[in-house]
Amino acid sequence: MVKVSPSILSADFCNLERDIRRVSCADWLHVDVMDGMFVPNLTIGVPVVRSIRKCTDLFLDVHLMIDKPVRYIEDFCHAGADLLSIHLEADHPARIADALRIMEANGVKKAVALRPITSARAVLPYIEQLDMVLVMTVEPGFGGQKFMESQLDTIREVRSIIDKYNPGCELEVDGGIAPGTAEQVARAGANVLVAGSAVYGADDPAAAIESLRRTN
Ligand code: DX5
Ligand code: ZN
Repeated sequence: MVKVSPSILSADFCNLERDIRRVSCADWLHVDVMDGMFVPNLTIGVPVVRSIRKCTDLFLDVHLMIDKPVRYIEDFCHAGADLLSIHLEADHPARIADALRIMEANGVKKAVALRPITSARAVLPYIEQLDMVLVMTVEPGFGGQKFMESQLDTIREVRSIIDKYNPGCELEVDGGIAPGTAEQVARAGANVLVAGSAVYGADDPAAAIESLRRTN
């Protein structure tokens, strides 16, 4: 069965605690951190993650869409993230490796994320040490965008790399996931589905999560 990680980017930030409780049946909680540089949008940072940690036991899946993420890894680890995803496009390989080392030292799960332009093979230098690979199925920056079908090939390719080098590694997809596209990405090999508007835009977010979880 797939895991579902609702993205709070589509929640009501004035009622964040209420909206986190609304998705308490989810497997994980997806937190989108944006810096206005790596992506053309600003969202939340370390203090908000720290506050979220205090109001939920959900596994915190924190997606860092920030330049040179190594600068903030320690802070996000201490704020209570359970997993951090850093973008391979956001720094030089040596600094990406440094960031992963800091996560490891802090007991936080390690993931790398790929923009649509990035080839699946970019994960090869890191794959054996990763807990997850995140494949973007939209350009990162905003919720509510259209799913990019062209990313199905990347998902399939990442799946075969994972199966070959690190079968326990999770494969998450993020962007435009709703019941129809969920089926496509699951068939291509994804096992963690991020969903923002499909969950928070639904009349019953818990039912939306359940229906995504039944994807096969
Ligand atoms: C986009 C974010 C996503 C976003 C997904 O850059 O990384 O997590 O919240 O939103 P939907 O599911 O609405 O496409
Ligand atoms: Zn995200």
